Amino acid sequence: MRQIRLTEVHPGMILARNLYSRKGHILLASGVRLTEVYLHKLRRLKVKTLFIHDESYADIAIPEYLSIETQQRALSILSSTMEKIHNKETFSIDSISNIASAIVEELIIQPSISIQLTGIATHDDYTLDHSLNCAVYTALLARSCDFTIPQIKEITCGALLHDVGKMKVDKRIINKPDRLTEKEFGIIKQHPQSGFNLLVKKRWELSSLVAHMAWQHHEKVDGTGYPRGLQGEEILNYARLLAITDVYEAITGCRPYRKAMKLEEAYTIIHSGLGTAFDEHFGNIFLSRMALYFPGMEVSLNTGEKAIVVSLCENTPRQPRIRMMTHPDGTSYSPPIEINLAENPHLSIVSTSHI
Ligand SMILES: [Fe+2]
Repeated sequence: MRQIRLTEVHPGMILARNLYSRKGHILLASGVRLTEVYLHKLRRLKVKTLFIHDESYADIAIPEYLSIETQQRALSILSSTMEKIHNKETFSIDSISNIASAIVEELIIQPSISIQLTGIATHDDYTLDHSLNCAVYTALLARSCDFTIPQIKEITCGALLHDVGKMKVDKRIINKPDRLTEKEFGIIKQHPQSGFNLLVKKRWELSSLVAHMAWQHHEKVDGTGYPRGLQGEEILNYARLLAITDVYEAITGCRPYRKAMKLEEAYTIIHSGLGTAFDEHFGNIFLSRMALYFPGMEVSLNTGEKAIVVSLCENTPRQPRIRMMTHPDGTSYSPPIEINLAENPHLSIVSTSHI
């Protein structure tokens, strides 16, 4: 299979992976032949990319971090927790804690520890998507930074809950498509404190660390963050991990006010914030593990050729193994050849099918 932009999908192509709604219902099943009517509906749903069946690439395995079941369970638990907070009802922390453990247990059995986009995007609730994506990225980063499994579970729990304070903020401000006014931004900036106040009242085992992650995830190591302007190691190490993944998720996911950013640009932003916005040590580990490409992704090379990513190499995630598809004049490679970009320094990727 391969992943291509919706704009490049033609009627007649065959869907290679189920497409789900946020409630977990199958919108389109794998194996379906796409028609113009389906494509029209997918455009209205703002689907950006699809996995398409293609005989030539049938052997390319596209990894999934989390099973659809775990994703759906996590989104539904998060959704009901957030709703209870919004309605000022009491909520149980056990279900969040259990789903955090389930996420970590699924992630730690993965052979690769590169940090790749999760593909979790429900298009109708950015806070839920953001929380779950952050949980996955933070768990993977914590694993790369050699935290213990019980610590990774705490961290994942904190990442799932870090934005609960946003439930106290008017949804019109959260989802506002235009630039926020100073007053609105001032309101948004209260969410770490509100989140802490909500969570610290929960007197369960993890409450203190998890509550502090909510309180500190917008702090920057140079002291210019909010709400308290903490610096360096005054910020809990768990929150220093989350500060990186929070920004990465925010810029690589779609938001009401802007399109998702390219992974190369996200890399540059995190890199330029090392030592100022972000902890340098954790940030460097994040960048060394961050995959700009993933199997099944179409890429264009500096030579004008097109290729598809076959696999990532553990030590050089930015120089994947690729299979050449077309020559600069658009004619197909026959037979297809595979090369390792790390061994061909004259070749570089100039654009991708992502976004
Ligand atoms: Fe936040």
